[in-house]
Amino acid sequence: MRTLRDISDLRDALSEYRQRGQRIALAPTMGNLHAGHLALIETARQHADVVVSSLFVNPMQFGPGEDLDAYPRTFEADQQALTDAGCDVLFAPTTQTLYPRGLDHQTCVHVPDVSEGLCGGDRPGHFDGVATVVTMLFNLVQPDIACFGEKDYQQLAVIRKMVADLHMPIEIVGVPIVRHEDGLALSSRNGYLSAEERAKAPALYRTLKTLRDALEKGENPHKALQQGRQALYDAGFEPDYLELRDRTLGPVDTATRDAVLLAAAKLGRARLIDNLTLTLPAATDTSADADSAPAQ
Ligand code: PAF
Repeated sequence: MRTLRDISDLRDALSEYRQRGQRIALAPTMGNLHAGHLALIETARQHADVVVSSLFVNPMQFGPGEDLDAYPRTFEADQQALTDAGCDVLFAPTTQTLYPRGLDHQTCVHVPDVSEGLCGGDRPGHFDGVATVVTMLFNLVQPDIACFGEKDYQQLAVIRKMVADLHMPIEIVGVPIVRHEDGLALSSRNGYLSAEERAKAPALYRTLKTLRDALEKGENPHKALQQGRQALYDAGFEPDYLELRDRTLGPVDTATRDAVLLAAAKLGRARLIDNLTLTLPAATDTSADADSAPAQ
């Protein structure tokens, strides 16, 4: 695997592959790699001849008071894991390389609508930072396809909309969530959990599964979500949100079948996110004042 830090070296390396007519896949990361990231590399490999990964802890997507400084940085271990996973090129720029004029006057990509609410509501500006750095990486690598994890469901929706709206000729591939045996979704932020919190953490996924089962049986979403939020509090979480949306993150109504449950909740220092797709039965009553009896 070639590790490249400069834009000109990256461009030179990639033009060689392109001249040979090889298909290029990109798997962007912020490092501290786990099996979820390695699934991105594996998927990228299935779709392309050349796999490029990037490792960059992007300051633009962290808000004031968030964990930019504490974010785990494990460069040597990540480099080894990517080599073992068969990655061809690692692009690991410095902040100075990507943002030479600093962040204050940086051109920024804003993706309306899907960036609003959910994590975008709790972390203002977060998705502008993500969309901007991903646009930069797309411009630098010019991949044929790019892989992103489905754990960051809203991020994936933001990137899909950005690519569609800006006519970027890149196929976006979502990669399923990788979970521990007890159901907790793999995340670099799981490292912030104490042993006691780690034991509590799978309750987030359990709550989503209980909710999914209730909703698929036709329970009223408002009541089910209220019970789900209470279950999270009872398990020791401080929920940021627990919501039911359609798969494009629009609101659900009686016509919605394909839906997604999305949650973000704090447990000690860690803010965990997770989601679960589901199919609502016909004629689910989505009104706030509906009885909790299943819709007929
Ligand atoms: O999902 C992530 O790790 C980051 O948000 C990404 C896509 C690499 C952009 O910094």
